[in-house]
Amino acid sequence: MKKVLVLNGSPRPNGNTVAMIKEFVRGAEEGGNIVNVCDVARMNIHPCVGCLGGNAQNTSSPCCQKDDMDTVYKYYNECDVVVFATPLYFWNFNAQTKAVIDRLFATMEGESPDPSVPAYVYYLQHKEACLMMPAEEESDANFQLINHYWDGFCERMDYTNYGKLLIGNLMEVGDVKQKPEALEAAYKFGRTIK
Ligand SMILES: Cc1cc2nc3c(=O)[nH]c(=O)nc-3n(C[C@H](O)[C@H](O)[C@H](O)COP(=O)(O)O)c2cc1C
Repeated sequence: MKKVLVLNGSPRPNGNTVAMIKEFVRGAEEGGNIVNVCDVARMNIHPCVGCLGGNAQNTSSPCCQKDDMDTVYKYYNECDVVVFATPLYFWNFNAQTKAVIDRLFATMEGESPDPSVPAYVYYLQHKEACLMMPAEEESDANFQLINHYWDGFCERMDYTNYGKLLIGNLMEVGDVKQKPEALEAAYKFGRTIK
């Protein structure tokens, strides 16, 4: 049994990301895992202001900005698996998701108890990480940048790259319903969490 945090970055409540998340969660819960979904696009989460004043030792509220990130920090600290579920915007995570990622910096800031290791390394939290992403275009070129970023991101964050589901030909709300193999893949992805 694992604790899973899904960060839903889509601003469309009935969009393709949400439909994929529902199937992923169904699979993960059937496998006996505990899943929490944070709809970060609808939460009050401000972008990082770059103050460099975060304090990782204050685990429940490491950031200087006090907003709904405190809810995300709680589930993030507890989880074994973190799922970044976001539409592809300009070949990358969307801004709502990127704001959360930037704010995770606060969990890696402050004084390192080991002077030979910088805080941003010392406070890394090992997790398994998944990426789920719908997009309009289905081509290798469309996913090239996010694939590259994702691999480096996982490595630098000390995440085990658990896998990704990048699905094209999804543009309008509801498109995913015409693509049952995408929902099936999301369900099976969730089912692999153990
Ligand atoms: C601002 C914006 C940028 C986008 N950029 C891309 C892109 O670079 N490549 C692509 O294939 N689709 C792109 N899309 C399409 C979305 O990824 C697609 O509509 C996706 O299914 C939206 O997911 P949602 O229904 O969960 O909101 C973009 C959409 C928007 C609104």
